[in-house]
Amino acid sequence: MADLLVTGTDTGVGKTVIAAALIFNARQQGASAVGFKPAETGLSDAGVADSDILAQASGIETPLARPLLRLAEALAPAVAAERAGCSLDPGDIGRRIRGLRAGGRRVIVEGAGGLLVPLSWGCTALDVARENGLQVVIVARAGLGTLNHVALTHEALVARDIPVRGIVLNMRDATPDLAERTNPATLARMIPGVPILVNPRHDGDVLDQARASVSFIAGIA
Ligand SMILES: Nc1ncnc2c1ncn2[C@@H]1O[C@H](COP(=O)(O)OP(=O)(O)OP(=O)(O)O)[C@@H](O)[C@H]1O
Ligand SMILES: [Mg+2]
Repeated sequence: MADLLVTGTDTGVGKTVIAAALIFNARQQGASAVGFKPAETGLSDAGVADSDILAQASGIETPLARPLLRLAEALAPAVAAERAGCSLDPGDIGRRIRGLRAGGRRVIVEGAGGLLVPLSWGCTALDVARENGLQVVIVARAGLGTLNHVALTHEALVARDIPVRGIVLNMRDATPDLAERTNPATLARMIPGVPILVNPRHDGDVLDQARASVSFIAGIA
């Protein structure tokens, strides 16, 4: 089964929840999977880091899966790194992915923000997918405004021949509004042939939400 990049149409759309759900799903099927977030910004003492959530979902702690960049400022990784006087070597991302693969695990990579956010100057999540043979899961808001964001993200991937495994519309409200109700069928018409999955709102913390999401994302696993 292909390794995956979980990207989003924006920051805060549910990438970590869905990446962790994909890991749980693989593990439930008897495969071993490991999450890897190469660059993590906006870290605070209060919040739980995405990389820690992915490690908990993976059930393993390995230095290979730790982020290459961890910074406090909530900025695109390339910008935060420049301000901190450091940088991320894109070649290291590939080396980590190959190392994790060599351990026999399926690798689930989480991007930072959306697809074209610079991880380092000249390297985006799209480049990481292309250079490492990753298939892509697009996570998006479910409501008004998402059609354009999803279509643009999908088009950028198709233009570079990167396979899109599925699109997850992630609900944040308990009761869907009109746009949330009509968007799945609309996207299916706009982007035929790609599974469009709706993940409802779940209670609990991010890991609880990820476990509860497993049955809703099984179609792209
Ligand atoms: N299906 C859901 N039900 C309820 N809450 C959700 C759901 N999906 C995501 N959330 C909440 O939305 C917030 C953002 O989710 P998440 O951290 O997965 O987004 P992200 O795209 O990974 O963000 P970032 O760009 O910071 O990495 C979190 O507080 C999470 O608990
Ligand atoms: Mg995240």
